[in-house]
Parts: sequence; C-alpha cells; structure tokens
Amino acid sequence: MPYSDKFYADLAARWPNDNPFVQLAYHNDVLVGAICAREEVVDVAAQEASGLPHIYPDVTPGFRVPGDSGKGKSKKSAHRVYIMTLSVLAPYRRRGVASGLLKHIVAAAEANPQIDHIYLHVHTENAEAIAFYLKHGFKLERTIENYYRNPNVKPPHCHLFVYRCSHGKSKPTEK
Ligand SMILES: CC(C)(COP(=O)(O)OP(=O)(O)OC[C@H]1O[C@@H](n2cnc3c(N)ncnc32)[C@H](O)[C@@H]1OP(=O)(O)O)[C@@H](O)C(=O)NCCC(=O)NCCS
Repeated sequence: MPYSDKFYADLAARWPNDNPFVQLAYHNDVLVGAICAREEVVDVAAQEASGLPHIYPDVTPGFRVPGDSGKGKSKKSAHRVYIMTLSVLAPYRRRGVASGLLKHIVAAAEANPQIDHIYLHVHTENAEAIAFYLKHGFKLERTIENYYRNPNVKPPHCHLFVYRCSHGKSKPTEK
C-alpha cells in the first residue's frame, strides 16, 4: 500500500531511537528501505469479556502469554508485533535489503520472551511480498475478504501472514 512522504519523513525524524521495531536502510545518504512495526499488548481478558471484535480477531481467541499452559484462567495480556509497512526503492530490490530489515524485527521479537508472534497484512495480488514473507518463515494464516476500504485497491482482499516466535526453541528455516 502506498504511504505518504510525510509518513517516511516522520519515521526518519524519529531516528535514531531505541525502538527496535523501526529500521531504516541507507545506501550512502539515500534512504532506500524502511520497515515500520509496532509492539502491541492485547488485553485478552478484557477483549474476551467485552465481546467486541479483537484488534486481530484471527489469532487472538485463545491467545495466551508464552509460558501459560492454557489451562485455567488466561493471563491478562499478550504481546505481539504488527508490521505496518515494509518497502524498498525499486532500483534497490532483490539485493537483500528487505531481508536485512526484517531480520532486525524478527531478532528483536525473538529476544523478547513475551512476544508470541509477528503478523501483517499483504494484498492478495502482491506476489513479491507473498514470496518474501514465505521465504522468511511466515505462514499464511488466512485470507480476509474486503479488508481494504480504499476503492482503488482491487481486489480489496488481503492475506494475513504470521511468524510464530520460537525464542530459541527451534530455529526458523528459510524456504
Ligand atoms: C517486497 C519487498 C519489500 C522485497 O524487498 P527486497 O529488498 O527486494 O527483498 P529481498 O531482496 O530481501 O528478497 C528476499 C526474497 O524475497 C523474495 N522476493 C523478493 N522480491 C521478489 C520478486 N519480485 N519476485 C519473487 N520473489 C521475490 C525472494 O525469495 C527473495 O530472495 P531471492 O532474491 O534470493 O530470490 C519489495 O519488493 C517492495 O518494496 N515491494 C513494494 C512494497 C511492498 O509490497 N511491501 C510489502 C507490503 S506488506
């Protein structure tokens, strides 16, 4: 999805900071790629009690903090990372820039035992991004129809991709 110049200017203005989930790639002085993600904390109990739709309804039901056996009462919160945007300038693609950016996000999530998974939405027609995320151990969780409200996005459907953190228990493999 296209984002405004202001979106990227804001990202650059906030850099450097201590947020491991925002990473920028430079070639000389040119900003050639960026990944912007955020950590989310889900108040599982409140969401379940409210009956309101979850922020991320597809994985959240039954979602538990790592270490919780799942038996008995669920813990109150759960952590996950949402990738909002990832892009590389066209002339710099297929050189591993996005892979390098994503590896920082995955490493930061894997280093935090509270974080259960990383997730994102990809347009169903975005073959490049689909191939990219599959290569990096993300799984297609499900397809959401009519996800995009922008009438220019056709079809308006997206795939939901999820990377489940292993926290060192098993090494993610590249396809
Ligand atoms: C998707 C995108 C971020 C990939 O960036 P990139 O820097 O070119 O990615 P990498 O070089 O790290 O590619 C890693 C792997 O992803 C897959 N891949 C990337 N681009 C691909 C393409 N055009 N066709 C097929 N596979 C592709 C390949 O498996 C590639 O490995 P390989 O080059 O060894 O075959 C880039 O194409 C882009 O900015 N697209 C527009 C924005 C976008 O769609 N963002 C994702 C939205 S969620």
